[in-house]
Amino acid sequence: MSRLIVISNRLGDPSKPPSGGLAVALNGALNALGGVWMGWSGTISDTAKSDGDVHTQQAGKVTLVGVDMNKAEHDGYYLGYSNSTLWPAFHHRMDLVENHQKDFDQYCMVNRTFAQHVAKFIEPDDVIWVHDYHLLPLAQELRSMGVTNKIGFFLHIPFPPSQIVTAIPGSEWWMEAMFSYDLIGFQTKADATNFRLYAERQLHEDIGGETDTVTGFGQSVRVRDFPIGIDVEQFRALLTHEEAIELRERLEVRSSGRRWITGVERLDYSKGLPERLKIYRQLLHKYPENQGTTSLVQIAPPTREQVEAYADIREELELLSGAVNGEFATIDWTPVRYIHRQVPRTRLAALFSISRVGMVTPLRDGMNLVAKEFVAVQDDDDPGVLVLSEFAGAAEQMKDALLVNPYNIEHTADALQRALHMPLDERKERHASLKKVVEEGDVVTWCRDFLEALQKV
Ligand code: G6P
Repeated sequence: MSRLIVISNRLGDPSKPPSGGLAVALNGALNALGGVWMGWSGTISDTAKSDGDVHTQQAGKVTLVGVDMNKAEHDGYYLGYSNSTLWPAFHHRMDLVENHQKDFDQYCMVNRTFAQHVAKFIEPDDVIWVHDYHLLPLAQELRSMGVTNKIGFFLHIPFPPSQIVTAIPGSEWWMEAMFSYDLIGFQTKADATNFRLYAERQLHEDIGGETDTVTGFGQSVRVRDFPIGIDVEQFRALLTHEEAIELRERLEVRSSGRRWITGVERLDYSKGLPERLKIYRQLLHKYPENQGTTSLVQIAPPTREQVEAYADIREELELLSGAVNGEFATIDWTPVRYIHRQVPRTRLAALFSISRVGMVTPLRDGMNLVAKEFVAVQDDDDPGVLVLSEFAGAAEQMKDALLVNPYNIEHTADALQRALHMPLDERKERHASLKKVVEEGDVVTWCRDFLEALQKV
């Protein structure tokens, strides 16, 4: 069996239990096959890059390789091109896209540097798996260094339609580079279709037929959807931790006769958080029986704070949650509980398990694993209801959620009302179907399917 070489911008930390689906899946696969995991070390050092900037650590059968960045690289590659150009564009926010040549140059440079470092570890039979938008051109860099191993790529975020791709500065270069992969995995069929349509519309290639192969720039690449899942057992097991048990007990006592609508995401403009508060406010206006009984818990930890668009969204959210509380709070009831901090996963599991509604309403999202985590910890005999945006990748699979368009505040408030008052039989029926989706498409299946498909190319 071949060794696995994983490259992602964020590197897992073997000294801590893996948190999040990606780290869990990759840890599992790497531990089984043995191999190398390379990524940014998390350190910004002022020294120029050299061999001394790479930290290697052995964790069982896995070699972890952390690469330091200097400030110019971090600013240009991570804050700049990755998160101020690609991220907004891939989430359909062209109004937020920044266009700076120096950011693009750093993006190219860091990808080359990553390739140079990883090339030192590659052995002839290794299989290479590259992750996410930070590293779109990595395979081309490796190929130019003579690497002939199988190289797969998985995009964790949405892939936009060709009109958007074409509008992104630098896209013609990395689109060509993407044809150096052997296999590209997307979260949804819609994303994979967007990639194929780019080849048809912009490159005038014939994409007819049922085949997964897409041709462009004189090369061919296999393209398919591989919807990512969660580690269901690991997430459920969190409920048995003392901290989770304690929190559940406290919430159950406090919430007798009260209902919780819960949302958890990084404070990112793609997550539709201001819209969510407006929807909740509309619910309280239109259906006043929820006043005094139904609270919204919104957990939105800080993220990428050095990027301006993220500071703006924070301000907007604080104003809105303050306004809703000002309008509706009573001495003994707080409508919105807004938490702008990271909350341990044990507590999240407990909170999801007692919530009547999981509100997952991003304006655009690759998959959204919170939707799957919410379903995983519901009580089969009295399950909560998932209200899910049709613009989250998860909506392609989780058709028995209440699917909503979060831009439509009025209709989404109606869906919340329906979720809050849904009869037990309907809740059970919907939950059973969603649970099946979550259990059958877990993270281990995702990882195995991708690697098998890559081996077969
Ligand atoms: C998304 C991306 C990941 C990224 C994560 C957190 O899920 O797909 O690649 O790691 O956001 O963002 P950050 O910028 O903190 O790594």
